Parts: sequence; structure tokens; C-alpha cells
Amino acid sequence: MVNTEKTKRYEELLLQIQGLTDGETEQVSVLANVAAAIHEAMGFWWTGFYLVKGELLVLGPFQGPVACYRIKHGRGVCGTAWARRETVVVPDVEQFPGHIACSSLSRSEIVVPVFGASSRVCAVLDIDSRELGTFDDTDARYLERIAQMVSAAVFTATE
Ligand code: SME
Repeated sequence: MVNTEKTKRYEELLLQIQGLTDGETEQVSVLANVAAAIHEAMGFWWTGFYLVKGELLVLGPFQGPVACYRIKHGRGVCGTAWARRETVVVPDVEQFPGHIACSSLSRSEIVVPVFGASSRVCAVLDIDSRELGTFDDTDARYLERIAQMVSAAVFTATE
């Protein structure tokens, strides 16, 4: 997708997610609708949330093929984004040591941490693509904004 088209889609998506998160506090419901909105708007292969529970990430609401239930801190792309507390963009999953292949068709990936009020990582937003090199700075910037909107709606209030 050329970058102007990508930006246009994300701008529309932000408005939609504003509507989906505004005044809504049911965590599972919001995460489910946000995953669905991103997935449908952008045409990704897998879009979903893993939730921090103790020392693990546990599978949360998602769209796409079935996925692994639990990921350890520091493991895979998701556990790495959690440990580093920053967005991780992987242009080719085969080049990422320790990548966890939930779907053999995934070729590139981005994982964005979702922070709570005390700056604790409460969840990660994980997105997979069937093509190489799908994700860039534009995706990172917009998905981080979406993570902030999700956090404000259903994580910071509960901390
Ligand atoms: N590939 C991820 C695991 C989750 S699935 O992509 C849905 C990882 O390496 O952490």
C-alpha cells in the first residue's frame, strides 16, 4: 500500500476508534471491537491483543487464525515489545530470533505496547501480515495512537 493511502486509511480508522472507545469501559468488548476495526480497515492477516497476567502474556480478543495462548516475558516479538517497553517492527519474521510462529503464513509483524496509568505495560497490540515488510514508521505512529486511546478507555481507569 502506498503511504498516502495508508495514512488516509489510518486517519479514518482513528475516527472510528474514537467512536468505539468514547465513554465505553468494558475491557473485553472494547479490545474486541478495536481489533475488528483495525483488521477490517487495514486488511491485515492477524490483529489482536495479548494481556499481561503476572509473568505471561495471555491471548485476548483478536481477529484471524487461532493463536498461541501464552507468551513469556522477553520471548517472541510480543514478549520482546513487552520487555523493551517499545514498539517492535519486524520486516521479515524469519530474521527475528525467537519469533513465535502461530501461523506459518505470517511474514512480517508489528507489536505495540499498551501502557496503563502507572506506565506499566498492560497489554500488547500484535499485528501480522502475510507479506514481507508491511509495517513502517507510519504504522508504528498510528498504532501507538490507537494503543493510547485503548489505554485511556479500558486500562488507565482500572489501575
Ligand atoms: N508472532 C508472535 C506470536 C503471536 S502471533 O503472531 C499471533 C511473537 O513472536 O510473539
